[in-house]
Amino acid sequence: MKKKELRSKQWFDNPNDPALTALYLERYLNYGMTRQELQSGKPIIGIAQSGSDLSPCNRHFQELSSRIKDGIRQAGGIPIEFPTHPIQETGKRPTAGLDRNLSYLSLVEVLFGYPIDGVILTTGCDKTTPAALMAAATVNIPAIVLSGGPMLDGSYKGKKVGSGTVVWEARKLHAKGEITYDEFMDMVAASAPSIGHCNTMGTASSMNSIAEALGMSLTGCAVIPAPYRERSQISFETGKRIVDMVHEDLTPSKIMTKEAFENAILVASAIGASSNCPPHLTAIARHMGLELDIENWQTIGHDIPLLVNCQPAGEHLMERFYRAGGVPAIMQELLKNNKLHKNVLTVSGKTVEENLKIKIDVDSDVIKSFENPLVENAGYIVMRSNFFSSAVMKTSVISDEFRKRYLSDPKNKNVFEANAVVFEGPEDYHSRINDEKLNIDEKSILMIRGCGPVGYPGSAEVVNMQPPDRLLKKGINTLPTLGDGRQSGTSESPSILNVSPESAIGGDLLIVQTGDKIKIDLNNRRIDLLISETEISDRKKNTKIPVLTNQTPWQEISRKMVGQLETGACLETESLYLDITNTKGMP
Ligand code: FES
Ligand code: MG
Repeated sequence: MKKKELRSKQWFDNPNDPALTALYLERYLNYGMTRQELQSGKPIIGIAQSGSDLSPCNRHFQELSSRIKDGIRQAGGIPIEFPTHPIQETGKRPTAGLDRNLSYLSLVEVLFGYPIDGVILTTGCDKTTPAALMAAATVNIPAIVLSGGPMLDGSYKGKKVGSGTVVWEARKLHAKGEITYDEFMDMVAASAPSIGHCNTMGTASSMNSIAEALGMSLTGCAVIPAPYRERSQISFETGKRIVDMVHEDLTPSKIMTKEAFENAILVASAIGASSNCPPHLTAIARHMGLELDIENWQTIGHDIPLLVNCQPAGEHLMERFYRAGGVPAIMQELLKNNKLHKNVLTVSGKTVEENLKIKIDVDSDVIKSFENPLVENAGYIVMRSNFFSSAVMKTSVISDEFRKRYLSDPKNKNVFEANAVVFEGPEDYHSRINDEKLNIDEKSILMIRGCGPVGYPGSAEVVNMQPPDRLLKKGINTLPTLGDGRQSGTSESPSILNVSPESAIGGDLLIVQTGDKIKIDLNNRRIDLLISETEISDRKKNTKIPVLTNQTPWQEISRKMVGQLETGACLETESLYLDITNTKGMP
C-alpha cells in the first residue's frame, strides 16, 4: 500500500516553495524543535487541550498531556499542543450551550489551517465532547477522543452525593427549611472531592460514554476516574494509537457511520444518558454529513432497558460504575442481546465486537442485565404536539411518586391533563413561583419559554422547574414541566424539554396561556393544547415575538445562524461537513 503523504509536509517540506517552507519552519524552531525533526516525515499530532484554570473539569489534562506526548513520541509522532476555547458548564453566562458551536468553529479553523496530521481530542465537561467531535467530523482528519474522566464519588454525612443531582436535592431541603445556607454550600461542595468532571450520569459522563460507543475512543476510556493511574495509562496509549491511525489513514468518516450513531443511541438509552445527548449526537452526525432524525431515539432507543444504577436515575456514581465494568460491560450486554452493530470500525482499528472480547467482572449492583434491568423501556420518548414539532422526555427518571400521581389512572394509563402555568424565562420563574395568586397545585404543568438556542442564547438548562415551597413542604416534589429550553443531565426530573421550534423564533409555544388545559398522552406520544382550532389561529395572529438584546457579538452571530434543538442546534452553514482529506488542505 502506498503511504499517503502527510498534510503537514505541505507546510514543513515543500520543495516547490522554499521561502514559504522556511517561514513555516523557522517559528517552530524558536522553542527548540529542529528542522530535521519537522522534516523527518513523522506525523504531527495535535493535542487539542481543553483544560485551563477556567475549565476545572478538564484542567488535569494540563498534567496528562505529558503522558500523551510520551505515547506520541514512542510511536514516532511529534506532539504539538494547542488550547481550545474554554467551555465551563456551570460557570459560563448566559449558557455554556452558546459556546459549543464557538468552540467547534475555532477548532475547525485550527485543524484546517495548521500543519496537523491527526488530533487527540481531550474531552470532559459537557460541551467539550460534542464540540470536539463535531470539529473532527467536519475536518475529517484522523482523530481520537481522550476523556478526562469523572471525579471520585462524593459523600456527605455518610451519604453518596453526586454532581448536580445534589443541588436539586439540596435546594428542596433548603426550601423546606431543613438545612441552612452553610449546610447547602457544604453539601454541594462534597459532591466534588477531586479533579475530573461531574461524577453522575450527567451530560459529561453521558457524552464521553457516547464517544466510546461511537468508536471514537479506546475501549474503556470513558469513565476511568480522573485521578486513577489508569487515566494516565490510557493517555499514553491514546497518544501511541493516534500516530498509527495517521499511518492507517483511519479518519472519522470511516468510524462515525450511520451504524455507529445507532450504537450510540443504544448505549445512551441503556445508561440513562443526559437529555442533552439527542441534540449533541444529531449535531455530530450532521457535521459528519449524516442525517440523524430525532425519531431515531424513539425507534432505536425507547425499548432499551436502563442497565446502569447511577444517579440521577439510580443510586451510584461514576467511580463505582467504572469499577463495576463501565461502558464496555454495557456494550457487552447489548451485544449479547443482539442490539449493537458489531462490525463497525473503531479507533483501535478493530471492530466493536473485537474490542469487546475482554473478560469483565461485572458488579451486578451497578450494572444490570436485560433480564433484570433497573427500568424497562427506559429510552427517550419523542413527543409531538399541536403547538410544537418535537420534544423529548427522559423516561428513565420518572419517579414512583410521579408515576403514581400522573400515569396510573386505571382507565387511562399514561394519560393526564394539567393546567398550564406559563413563565417567560428563568428570571420570571424565580420571581413568581411562590406567588400564591398563581394557584399552582398538583393539577398544574409548569411551562417555560424563551429558553431555546435563540431565545436564551445557547439554550438554558432550566426546564426542571421545582414546585413552589408550599407544595414541597406537603411532599409534592415534582410537577410536570415543559419548555423550549434544556435541563441539566444531572436532573432527576421527567420534564418535556427541547421543545422545537422555540418561542423566540415564533414557535407556537408562544400562544399557550396560563390556565390553558394541556393533555399529555404518553401512549400516543402526544401533548395537546385543548383549545379550538379557531382560538389557536386567533391567538397566532395576536402573538408577538419578544425583542431580544444581544450582550456580545457572538450572541448576535449565533442568533442569526443557529438552528433548533431538534436538528442539533448547529450553525446552519453550507459547510457543516468539509472533509479536508479530499482537498489539499491549503487555500
Ligand atoms: Fe463540568 Fe459537570 S460542570 S462536567
Ligand atoms: Mg449541563
